[in-house]
Amino acid sequence: MRYTNRTHSSRQLIRRPLAGEVIAVLGATGALGQELVPLLTRAGATVLLSGRRRERLGAMVEASGAWAGVAGDLGSRAVRQRLYEAALAAGRLDAIACLIGEAQMGAFAGLSDAQALRLLRANLAIPMLAVKSLLPLMLRHKAGRICLVSSVWGYQPASGEVAYSAAKAGLIGFGRALAEELAPSQILVNVLAPAAFVSPMLAQFSAADLEALAARQGGHLLSARTVARRILHLLDPDLRISGRLVRVGRIGPTPEESPGPTP
Ligand SMILES: NC(=O)c1ccc[n+]([C@@H]2O[C@H](COP(=O)([O-])OP(=O)(O)OC[C@H]3O[C@@H](n4cnc5c(N)ncnc54)[C@H](OP(=O)(O)O)[C@@H]3O)[C@@H](O)[C@H]2O)c1
Repeated sequence: MRYTNRTHSSRQLIRRPLAGEVIAVLGATGALGQELVPLLTRAGATVLLSGRRRERLGAMVEASGAWAGVAGDLGSRAVRQRLYEAALAAGRLDAIACLIGEAQMGAFAGLSDAQALRLLRANLAIPMLAVKSLLPLMLRHKAGRICLVSSVWGYQPASGEVAYSAAKAGLIGFGRALAEELAPSQILVNVLAPAAFVSPMLAQFSAADLEALAARQGGHLLSARTVARRILHLLDPDLRISGRLVRVGRIGPTPEESPGPTP
């Protein structure tokens, strides 16, 4: 653990476990990113932020004193190249938090092909490619921690979010396989699967659906802060686990316990 001395007279020790660390937050401009970034900087990390909304990203870079902000769609190779170059310029990359995602409610049969493919890209292909673009920096130093944010719907069946569920399940598979492959390089990969938390992502739900969702997860939606704190643990330099699916909150039974749908 690293600690730094507080400068004022109390001489109380403040825990700054991420002091000297460089951490990339992909999808930093969303609800979860807004909570995670201040936690990281308070813990001493230098952050490298990415998001599509340029103005919001600029404000976050300013507020957090980030090393850099890379604005744009990470589905673009040019944007991923800019991300890589920003991390390279920082001189090291200790951890990645990948929060990228997009949701769309509705019956699967009613989605256009383009909508279904968009959900697979945003929740699986783009996170995979974005992480891949940064891996050379971690492989070079044979160290690193990666936290991928999936969802409860990645392991729990979800009517109305079928393509999103499929992509988030794919992300769990990606994280587990990557953990195996990177184990000899001392790079730890874990996947977080939160239940629903308060975010504009839930704006598509009606009030009644939100109430039903909250009831399924013990009477309340999680806060983005609660989820961000779990990510912070998975980015800690003292982390020793890899290849794990870490659940935050719970909706119904685990996959092993699931009885399947009633016909
Ligand atoms: N909210 C929930 O209840 C819930 C539950 C379980 C899991 N999750 C997952 O948790 C993560 C964060 O959720 P959130 O509620 O914070 O969502 P959010 O507010 O919609 O944030 C999503 C983030 O991903 C970025 N993003 C999306 N597509 C991108 C692309 N192609 N290139 C670059 N950035 C892209 C967005 O950028 P811009 O905003 O700048 O466009 C934003 O920063 C997501 O992966 C979500 O699926 C959410």
